[in-house]
Amino acid sequence: MATPIRILAAAGSLRHQSFNRALLRVAIDGAEQGVEVTSFERLAELPFYDGDIEAAGDPPSVRALREAVTAADAILLVTPEYNDGTSAALKNAIDWVSRPPARALAGKIVAVMGASVTPGGARGAIESVKRSLRRAGAEPIDAEVGIPGVHHHFDEDLNLTDEGVRAEVIGLVAALVEQVRMKAEERLAA
Ligand code: FNR
Repeated sequence: MATPIRILAAAGSLRHQSFNRALLRVAIDGAEQGVEVTSFERLAELPFYDGDIEAAGDPPSVRALREAVTAADAILLVTPEYNDGTSAALKNAIDWVSRPPARALAGKIVAVMGASVTPGGARGAIESVKRSLRRAGAEPIDAEVGIPGVHHHFDEDLNLTDEGVRAEVIGLVAALVEQVRMKAEERLAA
């Protein structure tokens, strides 16, 4: 059996009833055979990035994140929009894994999606995440998904009720997987 493609995912909203977290579950449940999407659930455990903490040695949560990013074939980030940017929790995680010497994000293929309850569809947050990723040496793919008015697409138990949204989310994961396969083929051909 072929080795599965491993996608490490994280939702930038910490609240339990988060729509973005719910969208990530849609991505996990909808992953095609041979693709594993795993959610990193420890963003709230990461201390605020602090050079003194880093100099003293990475805390276990930071080590776990760095190892998970390094082991992943690709990354999927799901961002809420807070004041036209991403959440502090997600930005903090990006900052930690951007750091040398490991620079764990460098060269990683990343897909970004987001959702807001407003008509904006978290586009400002998605753009801010992609900007930070590029600075960290990651390779965000052009495809992205921003869901406006996201609360209209879930029932009160946070089950997705809109098949169009499901198709968009699954399509983004497929685009990410496609990029991983293309890059692997390029490496083989080189
Ligand atoms: C928001 N929200 C929001 N929405 C938006 O479209 N643009 C924005 O700039 C902001 N700013 C903002 C700031 C803060 C501090 C909060 C708490 C919220 C609304 C936000 O998109 C909405 O609460 C989402 O439901 C948050 O995502 P989760 O938690 O449901 O995943």
